[in-house]
Amino acid sequence: MDSTSPYPSLLAPFTLAGKRLKNRVVHASMTTRFGVNMHVTDALVQYHANRARGGAALIVTEPLSMARHQTIDYKVRAWNDDDIDGLKRWAAAVEAHDTRLLGQIQDSGRGRHAPGRNPSALGAAALPDDISYTVPHALSGAEIEAMIADFAQSSARLQRCGFSGVEISAGHGHIFHQFLSPRSNAREDRYGGNWQNRTRFVTELIAAVRAACGAGFIIGIKLPGDDGAPGSIGPQEAAIVAQLVTAARNVDYVCFAHGTHARSLELHVPDGNGPRAPYLPLMRELRAAVNGVPVVALGRITDPAEADAVVASGDAELVALGRTLVADPAWLEKAAHNRAHDIRYCVSCNSCWDTISTNHLPIACDNNPRVGLKDEVDWWPAPAKIKKCVVVVGTGVAGMEAAWIAAARGHAVTVFGRSGEIGGKTRLRALLPGGEALSSVYDYQQAAALRAGASFELGITAGAADILALKPDAVVLACGSSMTKPLWLPRDIFAAGLVPDLRTAMAGLLGIIARQSGTAVIYDMDHTDGTYAAAELLRARFDRVVLVTPRDSIAQDTAMVTRQGILRRMHEQRVEMVLHTEPCWGDGLEDGRLEIANAYTGERTTIDDVAFFAYATPRAPNIELAAPLRAAGIAVHLVGDCRSSRGVMAATAEGHAAGNAL
Ligand SMILES: Cc1cc2nc3c(=O)[nH]c(=O)nc-3n(C[C@H](O)[C@H](O)[C@H](O)COP(=O)(O)O)c2cc1C
Repeated sequence: MDSTSPYPSLLAPFTLAGKRLKNRVVHASMTTRFGVNMHVTDALVQYHANRARGGAALIVTEPLSMARHQTIDYKVRAWNDDDIDGLKRWAAAVEAHDTRLLGQIQDSGRGRHAPGRNPSALGAAALPDDISYTVPHALSGAEIEAMIADFAQSSARLQRCGFSGVEISAGHGHIFHQFLSPRSNAREDRYGGNWQNRTRFVTELIAAVRAACGAGFIIGIKLPGDDGAPGSIGPQEAAIVAQLVTAARNVDYVCFAHGTHARSLELHVPDGNGPRAPYLPLMRELRAAVNGVPVVALGRITDPAEADAVVASGDAELVALGRTLVADPAWLEKAAHNRAHDIRYCVSCNSCWDTISTNHLPIACDNNPRVGLKDEVDWWPAPAKIKKCVVVVGTGVAGMEAAWIAAARGHAVTVFGRSGEIGGKTRLRALLPGGEALSSVYDYQQAAALRAGASFELGITAGAADILALKPDAVVLACGSSMTKPLWLPRDIFAAGLVPDLRTAMAGLLGIIARQSGTAVIYDMDHTDGTYAAAELLRARFDRVVLVTPRDSIAQDTAMVTRQGILRRMHEQRVEMVLHTEPCWGDGLEDGRLEIANAYTGERTTIDDVAFFAYATPRAPNIELAAPLRAAGIAVHLVGDCRSSRGVMAATAEGHAAGNAL
């Protein structure tokens, strides 16, 4: 241990299967969707090489196609020699940084996120997937043996290509987990019935990989911790499984994952609605069950001091970081060189998960607009050839991203902000339940902008004349967006602001801590997470909270993992959800009565005792300044909501692009 380094325990080397790890940081497996046509791509190699260069000692790839039935387009094929050169290139690019590369063995089994069933799903038993209701083909004993043989020979191929090992993903509800859990495994043969039998698929797989690859090949395993599904694997069962799987001491590390492919899927990517590092207490308990095999800590570990403490306290030998290293590949390098203040932190928003799982796009990040690019590691803008006078209007995360980059490129940047504080609507979200981590997006931007010399004019609603007075060469308009008038609300009432939009109402309510009697009603045509965070805050203030939406459910424009958490909290807190419904304004909120109508039948009911009512509707860009500035011959760049209202990821990405384009 180097006692002069800022994080001596985290930076101390370690050995797995006789292979040296330069420190204790593992990049947890993350599906990137950078693979194409089952082949390694430059982007896939670059993404991993960046994380190796940034300091990770061990990187686990996303799941590969390791058995011949696996033919998903973005999963690189390793079960034959089709892409042997790609695999070699991938391993060489990572191992060149003294970083060990492990390929992940996984199969979704019956699990499916997308609507509809998976007709080619394989599984432990013909029992339905909790999310898609897919009923898999129950594997025969011979099919299991063939699959194990495939996985083992593919592992040997990886070894020949320069990989240091494999990780078996037996948590997260995938096929091995499905064999482990009594909820999905109703078999009566040697792979089901009791714990010994349910762990057999995994223990036979470990033995086969070991036989194929030898003692110097790292075999890690992700096992279920608490998977959160009824009749499945809780802490006690996890200890039994861990005990049996590690009994032969044939694996080199164990990492406990949480949640499963059910209503508890959200647990695998804990967000800002719970504590940081939420799984350390259970990991400490389960450590007793692993027969002395090294343990890898996992789950929302974002801060180097926190990670260092995990190792220093002896709770785990290694620390796995998934989203943390997506957000900043140079996380460890910065920490090691006393530059933790320069880290762009993971904000645990799960936009990355949404990108790959819902939108089927390559991985991206709210706080890292350069994921996987060649110059991503510790990126700082290159100086501009021609220095310009730039005005940025708006201090939300889109404007701030453009501002710091433009200033760092050497432009003279003035930022106008209507509020006295930066952050825009992200700041409001950060002040609502579960949003605190988001503040680090604009905190980083502000520090970088000040360091780069941008000047701020805050508390000013800049008009075209104020901007033109600065004689700018270019203007970045990042003025955000405003909620549109609900169709049922009379125009004069809307114009007079007599019924507030939810953002305005919440900003007004934040300073008030007293409880109020009556019912708070939100009309929800938004379906992003800020609306439900507002509902939670209102629930702490009012007797009753009702969400009224014309849609079939709530939170429909959030990732499944985010939605699960929202639904859980809404139910736990008894927030009422009235679906397929529109308010009918009629006489307004007379005597605190709000009339609502079923969107399909028109049938009317009332919500009584309404003390708070606000609408969250789709937002239209605030582009009033664009026309006069363009008419004056100024180059105008619209970014973030000012271009089209979306989330933080689009805002930082567009601000980033604009700052670089100036
Ligand atoms: C976008 C995304 C993709 C992931 N893909 C995988 C995967 O392919 N295999 C796997 O075992 N875990 C996967 N995970 C789970 C991570 O490995 C990790 O267990 C989880 O993100 C918690 O760690 P973190 O809080 O450090 O991100 C993924 C998580 C995210 C957010």
